[in-house]
Amino acid sequence: MTVVAVGPGDPRMLTLRGRQALESADLVVGFKTVLDVVSEWCGNAEVRPMSYRDQEEVLEYAAEQVANGINCVVCCWGDLNVSAHELLARVYRRAEHVELIPGVSSIQMACARAGIALEESLFITLHRRDGGESALAELEHYLQEGQRNIILLPRPFDLMPPGIASDLIAGGIESNRSVTIYQRLTLEGEKSWTGSLQECAALTEEFSDLSIMVFLRSPVEGH
Ligand SMILES: C[S@@+](CC[C@H](N)C(=O)[O-])C[C@H]1O[C@@H](n2cnc3c(N)ncnc32)[C@H](O)[C@@H]1O
Repeated sequence: MTVVAVGPGDPRMLTLRGRQALESADLVVGFKTVLDVVSEWCGNAEVRPMSYRDQEEVLEYAAEQVANGINCVVCCWGDLNVSAHELLARVYRRAEHVELIPGVSSIQMACARAGIALEESLFITLHRRDGGESALAELEHYLQEGQRNIILLPRPFDLMPPGIASDLIAGGIESNRSVTIYQRLTLEGEKSWTGSLQECAALTEEFSDLSIMVFLRSPVEGH
């Protein structure tokens, strides 16, 4: 079984190695939005979209096919080492040999847009079923400490930017602390917004599930 990370959304961000793996696959599985990114490279492979509800069945089917000598690729959004361990664990439970082909993560895109270095940044995800609260506490801790930029993945749709900003202010973070929100990086409709936590808390727009927040370690005036 091969896992191909497809990048942050723009099909041109798929790696050449990922494309080769897809071109030689007999079966390609993944969530529908992920498969949409790579559909042009799947050739004659059987393409099986999955949803949160039937992912176990689809991966079980893929494992059976692999046992029959079929070449199978599981696609994963962004990079496979970034907030994707639930899917990877499901693959590892079923396949003895797994090849991982990394991709460009949305957090790398956020770094590129924000002009920040990963080694001067800290990545926190709220994007997990459990542990949202402890991740928020961690976020508060590192914001207070102020030594690194923080790249934060909100959690669609119960821990989104306005709610996170309110929680941070309630937790004692200065309400004039600057934050940038990037939505739909590399995709049609990509946009960004920068303002204070207080302004963020008051936003009423609906945010895309593809949203990332960036807190600069030493906010530049007016940025
Ligand atoms: C389960 S995580 C998977 C991250 C993925 N493995 C990666 O490396 O980008 C999904 C979250 O990543 C962020 N994300 C992924 N793609 C994005 C994009 N194109 N623009 C903004 N945020 C994105 C959003 O916070 C989204 O809810």
